[in-house]
This record gives sequence, structure tokens and C-alpha cells, in this order.
Amino acid sequence: MRFQAPKGVSEYLPPRSSSFEVVRDRLLAPAKVAGYQLIELPIFEDTELFTRGVGGSTDVVMKEMYTFEDRGGRSISLRPEGTAGVMRAVIEHGLDRGQLPIKLFYAGPFFRAERPQAGRYRQFYQAGIEAIGIDDPVLDAEIISIAHQGFVSLGLKRFVLKITSLGDTESREAHRRDLVSFISTLPLDDETKERAERNPLRLFDDKRETIRAAMTSAPILMDYLTPPSREHFLTVQSLLKRLDVPFEIDPRMVRGLDYYTGTTFEFIHQDLGAQSGIGGGGRYDGLMKELGGQSLSGIGFGLGIDRVLLACEAEGVELEVGHSPTLFLIPLSSAAESEALYLATDLRKGGVHVDIAFGERGLKGSMKAADKRGAKYVIVIGDDELLERQAKIKDMSTGESESIRLLASEIASKILR
Ligand code: HAM
Repeated sequence: MRFQAPKGVSEYLPPRSSSFEVVRDRLLAPAKVAGYQLIELPIFEDTELFTRGVGGSTDVVMKEMYTFEDRGGRSISLRPEGTAGVMRAVIEHGLDRGQLPIKLFYAGPFFRAERPQAGRYRQFYQAGIEAIGIDDPVLDAEIISIAHQGFVSLGLKRFVLKITSLGDTESREAHRRDLVSFISTLPLDDETKERAERNPLRLFDDKRETIRAAMTSAPILMDYLTPPSREHFLTVQSLLKRLDVPFEIDPRMVRGLDYYTGTTFEFIHQDLGAQSGIGGGGRYDGLMKELGGQSLSGIGFGLGIDRVLLACEAEGVELEVGHSPTLFLIPLSSAAESEALYLATDLRKGGVHVDIAFGERGLKGSMKAADKRGAKYVIVIGDDELLERQAKIKDMSTGESESIRLLASEIASKILR
């Protein structure tokens, strides 16, 4: 019996896993220097958290959740996204009673039972941040520019930022009234009607051509923004311009999750085909209250690490991945192998990247291995070298060798010069 990974999951093996690591860390670096702190949460939660938080009318909850009964008969779901869980933890642990905004970041796997295709997986990875407790356009601009900075720091160029505003409650209610009466004039099947009753905005997101065509003349939320909502959105735009973050306004954007209000955004990469969304986010005014907490606003984003890596590969950007050893030790006997381990351990304590040729591959095979690994220096340790505590260190770029004592301090000062 040969096992295979479950269908549609993304997996990262060496050497590509190092690129994945670089992407994840670079995406989060701008958040760390802006004071966001790590939050590490469970991968499964009470199903009801997502039904209430993400929304019962969304594809994510209706069709894509991995839901099961645990041994205690509770309904559990693998997390399809991160914001609902973060809000659950904030409320449960009373973080909202401390300093506001609460600024958090996370990275990890998320699960959606979608039809697998290039860039769309059933287990995928997001890097996300959330700022909870303050409703201020400056915070919206901070969040968006942090995401932008992450993409730029990777060297990505071929992406665009789309933004819109879903307004405040008053804006959305006025729009909803007109949208519902517009939708009532459309010939819809019962299932679609039922969906539209739960959230009429979902019809903007329908993939069927007839519905897409019909929705082109539907009323647009942007035209219903109240003066304060309009003002908030205009401030975000002028801040983004000042921060050199280019954007387009997309009044028809519909995010796949129901909690969004106010400023909402998506980053689209131009070389990724159908699954082009490399990140998205927005403000969520009602989420904390909906989940049983006080009424505080929040804003955040989730960036798709898998897709950002694909985007880097599509653009051919070089991710500087440092997995070549600085020093490769080649022991020629078992006594030399132990000595190599002592030396390597001492050097590694000082942060030097050292690898050892394990297994009896002989000198030729081991030199080949050092070359393949991209080692900068090689030291061969045979019985004579052990006896004399002296060996030759070879600079692999010039091919030159010189004598060196088998002392970690001496070796370190040579190769770190
Ligand atoms: P989302 O737009 O559903 O937002 O997901 C964010 C990103 O995750 C997407 O832009 C995409 O890059 C990636 N992604 C989503 N589904 C898949 C998949 N099946 N395969 C590969 N990548 C995928 C959220 O999840 C929100 N929680 C973001 C947020 C945080 N909003 C406010 N705070």
C-alpha cells in the first residue's frame, strides 16, 4: 500500500519549502515592525463560530467547510479563515479590555473543500493581521500599506490593489432596500432566491453568465454611502496616495465572507489566471458583537502564501534562499566523523552554517556532494589530520587550499572574514 496526500492539498518539500518560508516571513515582516504581535490559535473551532462569523450565506460556510462531529458529539470545523477565530480569542480572553487597537498577526494552514486547481487548494496557507478596537481611516491605510509593503519587499511588480467601501449600517440598509427590489424583478430559481434573501450582495459574486449579465444594472453600494462613510473612504484614498500605494476603485467587488463593512480590498496578481487573488481584507464593524462581545470595529487582511509564491515564480523574482552551507566537513573515518561533529557543533553555536558528509561516500563522492550543496569552504579530516590537529581548508570558489588548525575559533575567523 502506497499512501498519497489527500486530494488538493498544498505541500512544500525542499528546496521549494525554503522559498515558501521566505515568502511567509517577508509578508509578515512589515507587520512586526509596526507593532503587531503573534497570535497562535487552534486549527479547529466550534462550527457555529464560522456560521455566525463568516456568514451562513457564503460559499465558504455553505459548501466548503470541513465539518465533523468530535468524540463528544460536538460539531467542529477546520478553520476556513482566521478572523472569526481571532475575534473569538479576543472576546474569550478579554484582550479588548486592554490597550486598543489590539494588533495581531498569524500564519498557518486554512481549509476549504473547493474544487482543486492551480492556486486553489483544500489546505492552503495564509499570513494575516488584524487590528481591533479602533475605527480610524489611518488604521485602514496602515493595514493596506503593510500588505503592499510585503509584496514589494519580495520584488513583486505585476499586482494591483482594488479597494471599495461597503459603508456603514445606514449606507448598507438603504442600498439593500433598492437591491432587494431590483432582485425581485429577476427570474431566479428558488435556491438563488433564498440565498439572495440571506445576503443580496452575494448575487454580485454569482458565476453564472445570466445572473452576471442581469446584475450589471443592479444598484451599487458606493452610490449609497452616507457622508461619514464617504469621508472615511476618501481619507483612506488620500492616505494611500501619500504613501505611494497605487490602487483602483472597484465598486463591484464582493468578498466571499459576510462580515465586511466599510473599507474592503483585494490584491490581484496579473500572471495567475483564474485564481489571481493573492490577498484580501477589510473592516468588520459588526463581527465582535455578532460573536457575543462588545461593539468594536476591526480591520485586517489575509494573504495567500501559496499564491504569492506562485506569483514570485511567475515573475521570476529571485528569493534569496540561504540553504548552502558555509563550511562542509568531510570526515574519512569514524573517529574523524566524531571530531567533525564536535567542530560543527562549536561553529554552529556561533551561527556558522556547517554541514557534514555523513555515510561512507569516499572523498570523491563527498567532494561532489559539497559542490552540489554550494558549500563555500571544505575541510577534509582523515586520520593524519586528526593526529596533527591540522587540516587543509579549501575555498571552493578559487580552488585554493591553506593549512588551518582544527579549532573552531580559528576556522570561524578564517571563513567569516
Ligand atoms: P479571503 O479573501 O477569503 O479572506 O482569503 C485571503 C487569501 O487567501 C486569498 O486572497 C487567497 O490568496 C488565499 N486563499 C483563499 N482560499 C484559497 C484556496 N482555496 N487556495 C489557495 N489560496 C487561497 C480571508 O480569509 C479573510 N479572513 C481575510 C481577512 C482578515 N479579512 C479581514 N481580516
